[in-house]
Amino acid sequence: MNTNAQKICRIGVLISGRGSNMSALADAISDGRVPGGVIAIVISDHACAAGLARAAERGLETLVIERRGRTREAHEAEIIEALRTRNVDIVCLAGFMSLLSSHFIEAYRGSILNIHPSLLPAFPGLDAQRQALEYGVRWSGCTVHFVDETVDGGLIIEQRVVPVHDDDTEATLAARILIEEHQLYPAAVARVVRGDYEIHERRIIKRTFKV
Ligand code: GAR
Repeated sequence: MNTNAQKICRIGVLISGRGSNMSALADAISDGRVPGGVIAIVISDHACAAGLARAAERGLETLVIERRGRTREAHEAEIIEALRTRNVDIVCLAGFMSLLSSHFIEAYRGSILNIHPSLLPAFPGLDAQRQALEYGVRWSGCTVHFVDETVDGGLIIEQRVVPVHDDDTEATLAARILIEEHQLYPAAVARVVRGDYEIHERRIIKRTFKV
C-alpha cells in the first residue's frame, strides 16, 4: 500500500465571463503543477460566459446557475448544492462577479480563494487596473487571497508585482497583470492543496516542520 498517496483535493471553479484564469488552472493541473488537485465542476452565473466553452474543451463538467431573476439566497443555495454534490473541497473564484453572502462563506469557510488584479490591500473592488492608473502607482500586480466577508480583504496567499508604464492604458496594464495571474493562481492553489502553511495573525507562512 502506498502510504504516501496524496489525498485528492476537489476544486469547484466559479466564473462569470472569459474564464482565462479557470483555463490556466485547468492547464496547470493537466501539466502536473497542482499535485493532488482536480477540477470537479465549473459553474457560471451567466449562460453566455465564454469560459464555459473553454471548460468544455478541456473536458470539464460545466453548469450554468443564473443569478438573474432570483434572490441571492436561492442562487447561492443552488451553487452550494452543486458543489456539495460533487464533494468539492475548495472553491476558486475566477472572475466571478456575484458577491458572496456570509452564508456561502460560512459553508466553505477558509476554503474559498479569489484572484484580484491589484496588489491588495490597494484597489479592492471593481476596476482595479483603472484605480491603479488613476492613483498613479508605479507598480501594480495581482493577489490570490482567501475570501471572507470583506471586499477583497481576506488573508493573502500569494502576490506578484508588475510595473506600470508611462503609456499604459487600462487595457495594456490589465493584459500585463493577466499574464502574471495565469502563473499566480495555479501556484497559490497548489500551495493550498499541499497545505504546508500556517496562519499567524494575518500572515500565511510556510509550515515549520517538527520532527
Ligand atoms: C481577472 O483579471 C481577475 O483578476 C478579475 O477578473 C478577471 C477575470 O478574467 N477579477 C476581479 O476583478 C475580481 N474582483 P478571466 O475570466 O479571464 O479569468
